[in-house]
Amino acid sequence: MKPGDLDPALHGARRARLAQAMQEGVAVIPTAPERIRNRDTHYPYRYDSHFYYLTGFAEPEAALVIVAGARPRSLLFCREKNEERETWDGFRFGPQGARERFGFDEAHPIAELDARLAELLGDQPVLHFPLGADPAWDARAMGWLNAVRALARTGVAAPARVQDVRALIDDMRLVKDSRELGIMRRAAAISAAAHVRAIRAARAGRFEFELEAELLHEFRRNGAQFPAYWPIVAAGANACVLHYVANDGVLREGDLVLIDAGCELAGYASDITRTFPVGERFSGAQREVYEIVLAAQAAAMAKVRAGAAWNEPHDAAVRVLAQGMLDLKLLGGGLEEALEKETYKRFYMHRTGHWLGLDVHDAGDYKRAGKWRALAPGMVLTVEPGLYIRAAEDVPERLRGIGVRIEDDVLVTDGACEVITRETPKSIAEIEALRRDAPGDAR
Ligand code: GLY
Ligand code: MN
Ligand code: MN
Repeated sequence: MKPGDLDPALHGARRARLAQAMQEGVAVIPTAPERIRNRDTHYPYRYDSHFYYLTGFAEPEAALVIVAGARPRSLLFCREKNEERETWDGFRFGPQGARERFGFDEAHPIAELDARLAELLGDQPVLHFPLGADPAWDARAMGWLNAVRALARTGVAAPARVQDVRALIDDMRLVKDSRELGIMRRAAAISAAAHVRAIRAARAGRFEFELEAELLHEFRRNGAQFPAYWPIVAAGANACVLHYVANDGVLREGDLVLIDAGCELAGYASDITRTFPVGERFSGAQREVYEIVLAAQAAAMAKVRAGAAWNEPHDAAVRVLAQGMLDLKLLGGGLEEALEKETYKRFYMHRTGHWLGLDVHDAGDYKRAGKWRALAPGMVLTVEPGLYIRAAEDVPERLRGIGVRIEDDVLVTDGACEVITRETPKSIAEIEALRRDAPGDAR
């Protein structure tokens, strides 16, 4: 089976688990709408992650309905077969085809959703719905409830509660199963190869977008459908702009380049950052900054183990980074003061990681009842410390404009974490070897 191949039994098992977690009531989970880019041209279509997790169904204009209880049922609402539209836009399963292929108990045309929900919600105590995710669907949900309320005199009761169904699904999505991990490992390997390719393609005089093109080519030629987020290719001081996406600057000898890029494969994201010199070697100052970030990442990764609290990796990284800032004379005073007053935030202003899965910033709480969540086997997160030294008068001149981030994707296990992006070169020696071996300027 190749990554992304359908496994209807798996999606069915997830729906059964959700029905059990709901205990009672009806869940309605719509997929994402198509979005117009301009006139009659659309943005590339991407399904809703919650919907896809529970169905594996990738067409737009669809909704999943789950009826919980003693005999749970799942119903798909989707587009009907349509010869003309299929001639223009491609194959559609249609309700009957979708039911057979994906294993739903029932499937109906999406046009019947409103009428059937007015029936399905009668005498149900609760509607589980992604409340607030999309105003158009919110309004539709109110319509279903009102349609049931209109039946009050016939003795039918409307749900008294509407509950956000996402909390239940988020929790399921947080712990990945072996199929998901297989896809994520493959996505990580593709992204690793893309980074190697972009690192090898760097030359003074080339533009950031030329490296972006190498990344996108490598993603796509390996079957990844999208970048998981728009790649950041930031040369020189652009690396100090955290969400830099212009990617139109030129690479200069002596600069570092920061690339933050990962593909999306069969719905699953990868997320890797590497920082490397345009020339063959890091300068002395660049090397010092890089080694601090690398040590911070190692310290954070050492804390990624089952039972550790979510903030432990971050706290470990911050400690190393803050000490590094003191050593570099970016900060004065002592370590405890820097930590207490959070003066390190001037040069390290983001968190050290996030959950990773169907979404690059994946579903799942970080705190529960006011306490940081404990890591458990099967959770996947990023570990991505950085140091961003924007030019300023009080910053040592040799450090001005240096930005370094190192980001890997890791799986929590019973022992040491598994670094699923480990094929991406990371040590200074590995990166310099890659730069040395890069083909000469072919222009
Ligand atoms: N690339 C997005 C992130 O690192 O969080
Ligand atoms: Mn990233
Ligand atoms: Mn990230």
